[in-house]
Amino acid sequence: MTIAMIVAVGQNGEIGQNRELPWGHVAEDMKRFVRLTSGHAVLMGRKTHESIGRLLPNRQNFVATRQGTVLPGAIAVHDLQAFLETWRDSDQLLWVIGGAELYSYAEAYAQRLEITRLSGNFQADTFFPSMNWSWWERSNLESEPSFSNPQVTGIVFQTWKKVSGWQSPLYNHSAARTDEQRAEMERLEQAIECHFCFRDRADEIILENAHWLVVKNTFPYANTALHLLVVPKKHYLSLSEMPDEFRQSYLEIVATVEGHFELKAYSHFMRVGTMARTGASIAHLHAHIIVGNPDAQDEPVRVKLAT
Ligand SMILES: NC(=O)c1ccc[n+]([C@@H]2O[C@H](COP(=O)([O-])OP(=O)(O)OC[C@H]3O[C@@H](n4cnc5c(N)ncnc54)[C@H](OP(=O)(O)O)[C@@H]3O)[C@@H](O)[C@H]2O)c1
Ligand SMILES: [Zn+2]
Repeated sequence: MTIAMIVAVGQNGEIGQNRELPWGHVAEDMKRFVRLTSGHAVLMGRKTHESIGRLLPNRQNFVATRQGTVLPGAIAVHDLQAFLETWRDSDQLLWVIGGAELYSYAEAYAQRLEITRLSGNFQADTFFPSMNWSWWERSNLESEPSFSNPQVTGIVFQTWKKVSGWQSPLYNHSAARTDEQRAEMERLEQAIECHFCFRDRADEIILENAHWLVVKNTFPYANTALHLLVVPKKHYLSLSEMPDEFRQSYLEIVATVEGHFELKAYSHFMRVGTMARTGASIAHLHAHIIVGNPDAQDEPVRVKLAT
């Protein structure tokens, strides 16, 4: 076990307010945080690093930032994916300590999640991101009887273990359209990695909102002038397992694509569920946006759909 995440969350998913913790200081939680993380490496987002305002002692402090500066003694991490991949393969423990952006990014790499659930009424502007809960199983639960902070009416510590990661099969090899695509699918299948969950890997992100991203299809269909994929930022296989906020922001991202590319006419379809039936090459739900090549009118875009 090499990457773990630790977070304190209110009843409504609250984790931050005005760059601080919504409840201020909770001694019982802090004690546990220090006990678990001391002597190990910690990774945080640049905003969390600024809000802490100092190095966490007895811990190697890594700070994710695209271009910001970090305090002397802290180590800036620019390539978050490469960094997490390296730690995942090492036998040292790395704690991802927030905030929201970092938890969301690191979920695919983490094997353990420590959550402190705090009861009380808290104001918040930052929330714990939605996790793929089917990947996680709660392995321990402890309640803390004493609350030093008068705003807090209950404290429960939960330990979660990653049980599955991605479900097999992740790829439908018979849907590959080129040898290159088949080879890439075989490589990812062996590594048990979802191409869309490791979204920085290959595709250039063209547009995004909080829950969806739009990438160019690495392997566009023949006779397309434009071939985009609209992909949720979490590994869902169907619309019904998606939280409301994902479903609600879907048409918004499609409309953004229309505006961005000034699309007057395009085809748009989604593959949902079992790849063997939908013709999809990857299990992670996704939609296609396709504009045909106007110079190839006699050669329509051919798509293999439900079987
Ligand atoms: N309750 C808890 O347990 C807990 C724990 C931690 C934090 N918090 C709270 O959470 C809030 C902060 O969370 P947040 O989501 O706003 O910010 P954050 O995750 O702490 O930091 C976001 C920053 O991390 C960097 N970053 C994100 N993704 C990256 C990537 N792929 N590659 C490189 N750098 C990347 C970027 O820094 P640059 O902008 O510099 O590029 C980004 O602005 C605060 O209110 C804090 O108090 C709560
Ligand atoms: Zn995925």
